[in-house]
Amino acid sequence: MIDYKNIIPWGRSYTEYVNMFHLSPGFLSKKVLGCGDGPAAFNAVANAFGGHVVSVDPIFELSKEAIEKQINDSFPDVINQTRANMEQFNWEQFGSLEGLGKIRMKSMKQFLNDYEEGKAEGRYIAASLPKLPFNDHSFDIALSSHFLLLYSDILDLDFHLKAIDEMLRISSEVRIFPIIDLNSKLSAHLPEILERYPNHELIKVNYEFQKGGNQMLKIEKSLP
Ligand SMILES: C[S@@+](CC[C@H](N)C(=O)[O-])C[C@H]1O[C@@H](n2cnc3c(N)ncnc32)[C@H](O)[C@@H]1O
Repeated sequence: MIDYKNIIPWGRSYTEYVNMFHLSPGFLSKKVLGCGDGPAAFNAVANAFGGHVVSVDPIFELSKEAIEKQINDSFPDVINQTRANMEQFNWEQFGSLEGLGKIRMKSMKQFLNDYEEGKAEGRYIAASLPKLPFNDHSFDIALSSHFLLLYSDILDLDFHLKAIDEMLRISSEVRIFPIIDLNSKLSAHLPEILERYPNHELIKVNYEFQKGGNQMLKIEKSLP
């Protein structure tokens, strides 16, 4: 059983984001907001490719050194909990626990190397769902990777509905991956969320690390 005491800073690669969210190359011309991107490499690499990605996360209040310390402090716990639950994961992509650790650390280094410049350019903004500091319709797509739905044990339904409402206020479309929780069970909040947002689609994607975690929830803003 995986049991994190907090929502941990942990960062995935650009390629993982592209696969999880089923992003076609055209996404680089769109305005994209990553909610809870933490130390993922998505923002750094997408913008290096000419994209327009802004990320929000409460950890962006911290200095580069403080975030690096948090990453290094949580690394052993994540690796140990993954080692104790190896059967919950699909190892095709990473090969081994060591392979996973290397790819994650490489992605988080890409983030750290970009962080100060990106912060000065307004690409890393310290903010927290469910209240974001943007005007209505500021983005084309708002993403949540490994934050909403995954932490359904810690974040209740009310938080999820407020967070999704806020993401739809500022963007035309919301994409959330995965739709399962930390122990690979469908999020307990999913039925109410699907009912509340009829403009939804569950899309099978070309990414599966947590076994059974290969679906992305896409919600389009309803026209008035
Ligand atoms: C497990 S990490 C996922 C990081 C990244 N999205 C990825 O998939 O690699 C979860 C992130 O959610 C952030 N977070 C926690 N509370 C938040 C909130 N209320 N609003 C936005 N992000 C939050 C954490 O700081 C952390 O960086």
